[in-house]
Amino acid sequence: MSPLPPPLQTEQRTYVRAKSRLLSYFAGCDYYRLSSHPRVLQALRTGLDRHGLSVSASRLTTGNHRAYGALEAALTEFFDAPTATLCSLGYTPNLIVAQALAGRFTHALLDARSHGSLQDAAQFLDCPILKFPHRDPAGLAELLQRLSRSRPLVMTDGLFSHDGSAAPLADYLALLPPEGRLLVDDAHGAGLLGARGQGALEHAGVPRDRIIQTLTLSKAFGAYGGAVLGPPELRDAILERSRMFVGSTPLPLPLAHAAGVAVRHLRAHPRLRTRLQDIADRFKADLRAAGYSLPDHPGPIVPIVPRDATDTRRWEQRLLKAAIHPPLIRYLGGPANGYFRFVLSSEHTPAQVNALRTVFRELAPD
Ligand SMILES: Cc1ncc(COP(=O)(O)O)c(C=O)c1O
Repeated sequence: MSPLPPPLQTEQRTYVRAKSRLLSYFAGCDYYRLSSHPRVLQALRTGLDRHGLSVSASRLTTGNHRAYGALEAALTEFFDAPTATLCSLGYTPNLIVAQALAGRFTHALLDARSHGSLQDAAQFLDCPILKFPHRDPAGLAELLQRLSRSRPLVMTDGLFSHDGSAAPLADYLALLPPEGRLLVDDAHGAGLLGARGQGALEHAGVPRDRIIQTLTLSKAFGAYGGAVLGPPELRDAILERSRMFVGSTPLPLPLAHAAGVAVRHLRAHPRLRTRLQDIADRFKADLRAAGYSLPDHPGPIVPIVPRDATDTRRWEQRLLKAAIHPPLIRYLGGPANGYFRFVLSSEHTPAQVNALRTVFRELAPD
């Protein structure tokens, strides 16, 4: 049997069509539905008409188009970062950073649940790789104590997508030896967390001088590709030393143009972020009032773990009856009966959120 689930077709921004039924869709990472925003779609067409599809060359040879510089400028502005370096796939910024910094660190210290791209990236650092317990500063401290005179790269997700929890970046930073650095994969936090949407760093209130922040453009920005935010020396190192960056064709031009418009749109419309925050806060408060014990995580991700297989089936049936797509997730090492990972967006209507709230109330724990 294929591990791929049946295809889903997005409709009307917050619905999917599955087996010919139109279902409310509380999943995915398109938090503001920018992937279907008319301005972003128009930018995609304009980018295609204006620039064509591809530069078909590395940026280090003849492929350095002004659309890339424009997108990088939009990102440095959005994130208040010294430099942004575009990567053609959201999985690659961590790999590109690690190739650029290979040999610079004595140890790669990874959160035990860090994203696959961080785990793969660690292999490029040319140093021993050690894991510390998930989101556990005491565990990191213990590890650091065992390593005398280390120059570690501590690697973690900024916002963990499996349960919506944020990494304790301020605690990690306080533990970091002077020559150490923090690499934060902020694929989920970027555009979402913090007063200006600058991500997990802003949420934690930490400065960026010892932190490298990586992000994807495929989630909050609804587009595609990724980026590295860091000091000019890091950008120089990427351009000189990352084989993945040097030896590949950058993002298709229409996508780069559309991503730039999406980044600028989110910056110009802070209301999108406050609306999503309000929807998520109110929804989580209602669930707590109905008897659910939800951890105090920021953001719009609401994980619900069924007690047993019967519970899983009951949730699925009840959600389908309410015309809601059941966002059931199963992964190796995860809860035995899978779990439901609901994700709210700024574009869900009050009626859609109400329908979901009603299901939660009906299935509330005794
Ligand atoms: C933490 C994290 N990093 C990187 C990625 C890769 O991003 P993309 O899907 O845009 O390639 C993902 C995607 O799911 C992610 O969750």
